[in-house]
Amino acid sequence: MDKANLDWQNIGFGYIQTEERYVANYKNGAWDKGALTKDATVVLSECAGVLQYAQTIFEGLKAYTTKNGDVVTFRPDLNAKRLNDSARRMEMPVIPEEQFLEGVRQVVNGNRAYVPPFGSGATLYLRPYMFGSNPVIGVKPADEYQFRIFATPVGPYFKGGAKPITIRVCDYDRAAPNGTGHIKAGLNYAMSLHAIVEAHELGYDENMYLDAKTRTKVEETGGANFIFITKDNKVVTPKSSTILPSITRKSLLYVAKEYLGLEVEEREVDVEELKDFAECGLCGTAAVISPVGKIVNHGEEIVFPSGMDQMGKVTQKLYDTLTGIQMGEIEAPKGWIYVI
Ligand code: PLP
Ligand code: COI
Repeated sequence: MDKANLDWQNIGFGYIQTEERYVANYKNGAWDKGALTKDATVVLSECAGVLQYAQTIFEGLKAYTTKNGDVVTFRPDLNAKRLNDSARRMEMPVIPEEQFLEGVRQVVNGNRAYVPPFGSGATLYLRPYMFGSNPVIGVKPADEYQFRIFATPVGPYFKGGAKPITIRVCDYDRAAPNGTGHIKAGLNYAMSLHAIVEAHELGYDENMYLDAKTRTKVEETGGANFIFITKDNKVVTPKSSTILPSITRKSLLYVAKEYLGLEVEEREVDVEELKDFAECGLCGTAAVISPVGKIVNHGEEIVFPSGMDQMGKVTQKLYDTLTGIQMGEIEAPKGWIYVI
């Protein structure tokens, strides 16, 4: 199939409308079969639950062209499971995992022209999401829902790609204890917008959120988990019940242990420890691993020994191994790669 006429090497992380999207509707207690449509708009009641009380959840995953020309997605079963964890917490209906995967297959197949070529650095980002669609005026869950998946080709999440970024320790909280920080609900992102706009105005690329209860433990950013590398090459990542369990992080921890022979620790990380780490990175589907060069904590500057010019050595190895697996250059663990 002919590829779309895009400058693959230079696309950023933005929305580019593609040909087909998947839509399924939930009504009278059941999902319909779902189908592709070329219509990129959504028409809703003015009183739809999503518009009034933000009953919406989403996922993010990518499709890649591998070295041998296959089009694949990475661990989409985990996105299906996490969407359903989000749905249960938001009083929304779960979607059968097989239907989620079928939607992913259909959307990737319908947009093959937009799956970036191998080696271009770009990928096709898939955005599954679900929202309350019928009128709701008293505060309660909707009765009807729509599940959709669209696709958009993307480049690096942070401008500059592998250049280390600068972040600040943020005074706003992202997630309350026993709240919704561990699920992927739109509301978590709505309430981070003021903090990210402020961070950008002050010259920072991202926010480091701390735990809301004690404000002493590292949590995550608005859209990615943290990994740290110690001076003796251990991989450390925060353990918290109020962060989103990242599929990228889960995969990186496996890669660190099983492919690179590194020790891995998932534990509480005190903000006072930051100065002792050798490297820091943000990990997520969109971010892949984005190196952090500097953290500013209320005037105190922590510059990691890996510096502001390039990724740290261990971070780079993790990045190369994970992306090698995703692009079919390194053998993947069983079940990680879904050929479309
Ligand atoms: N944390 C937050 C708040 C996110 O939005 C994301 C993105 O999905 C992640 C972490 C990374 O998760 P994943 O690796 O599954 O994309
Ligand atoms: C992702 O990494 O898929 C995300 O959802 C992060 C961000 C774009 C919200």
